[in-house]
Amino acid sequence: MASLMKLALLSIAVIPTFSYPILSPPTILPRIDYSASEPSVPLGLRSESPYLEIGDYKLSELVRIGQGDYGIVFKGKAKKKLGYGSIDIAMKVCQEAAIASCKLEVKVLQELHGKVPGGIPEVYASSDSTVNDRPGFSFIMTLEKGGTLKGKSAIYSEQEKPEDKHSNLVKLWTTLEEIHDAGWAHRDIFSSNMAFSDKREAGQPFGPMVFLDFGQASDASRTTTPVGITLKYAAPEEVALINAQHYDRRVVGIDPKLGDVWSLGCITWQLIRGSECTWAKENENYNLDEEKFTEIIKDKLKVGDETVHDDLAKWFAGVLAGSRTRLTSKQAREQFEKIDAGHLPVVPPYYDSDSDSD
Ligand SMILES: Nc1ncnc2c1ncn2[C@@H]1O[C@H](COP(=O)(O)OP(=O)(O)O)[C@@H](O)[C@H]1O
Ligand SMILES: [Mg+2]
Repeated sequence: MASLMKLALLSIAVIPTFSYPILSPPTILPRIDYSASEPSVPLGLRSESPYLEIGDYKLSELVRIGQGDYGIVFKGKAKKKLGYGSIDIAMKVCQEAAIASCKLEVKVLQELHGKVPGGIPEVYASSDSTVNDRPGFSFIMTLEKGGTLKGKSAIYSEQEKPEDKHSNLVKLWTTLEEIHDAGWAHRDIFSSNMAFSDKREAGQPFGPMVFLDFGQASDASRTTTPVGITLKYAAPEEVALINAQHYDRRVVGIDPKLGDVWSLGCITWQLIRGSECTWAKENENYNLDEEKFTEIIKDKLKVGDETVHDDLAKWFAGVLAGSRTRLTSKQAREQFEKIDAGHLPVVPPYYDSDSDSD
């Protein structure tokens, strides 16, 4: 009841300041005014009969995905009211411990808007909300329809033509470079936090990749490793920092952007080789003997009897190096760009028993 009243109040509060003109695609919902410091569009949410309400509009079913406080909204009733194609938006609903990281996420996405074209979801609206009468925070963003990388990396590694794979990977590293140039590190790059955009070109099985989930992002002021980090993909120095919690990043001299380079290096490995690169951390002293590590990588990248080109093995040795010698995202992008697409191995079908099906 309380939440109903809140909803009613919200609608009343919104109507005088907010009107919905007939918008023409691709502008579907009013986007946040990025020049304003606070997002301006309130929304209401009830979880008993899930729907999303923005001003006057109830935008269809809220479908829960997974266990988390997370919902996807799509094909809204706005279609009928506004008279054109379906809308595709995703909504993240955050409660309790997640509220602060969700607010940070909106701030980061807003700051990156325009600086990272196509590489991150676009935020439409955000607001404090109520779920089951408990305070929460929600935001709406573009739905990346191509599915997440989790479960798709094996298919990707087989299906992409080497030249498409090469240019998609250059794009991916360019996106990381743009995020870093804008002053942020993502800090939780792994397969569930990356999606394929549905904006694929004719004849290509996948669209470009998009980074999701900036809830752990960091600018230079953050000094600790997030406890929610995904260990499999985390750089060794970040894992060490979790284990030694008294260390301050500034004292130890850890750059979270270099942590991103390691994690995206692991993702790139998966996309090229179709298997995870968790073995990299087993070679604790690898950075003391670069040549030997390049040989190990060459061997791990081998497909059948095909030897892998030195350029690619060296590149991986650079992104999976110890933090003092690791390439920056800019260097990684520049050097990957120079690798001949023909040097990427063509991998046979690979089935990962670990992968899920999304
Ligand atoms: N914009 C989006 N488009 C499509 N799917 C998304 C989007 N944002 C998140 N998801 C899906 O929801 C999952 C959880 O979202 P995420 O932002 O990673 O939240 P959490 O902080 O709970 O990990 C993602 O792994 C992905 O499958
Ligand atoms: Mg996530």
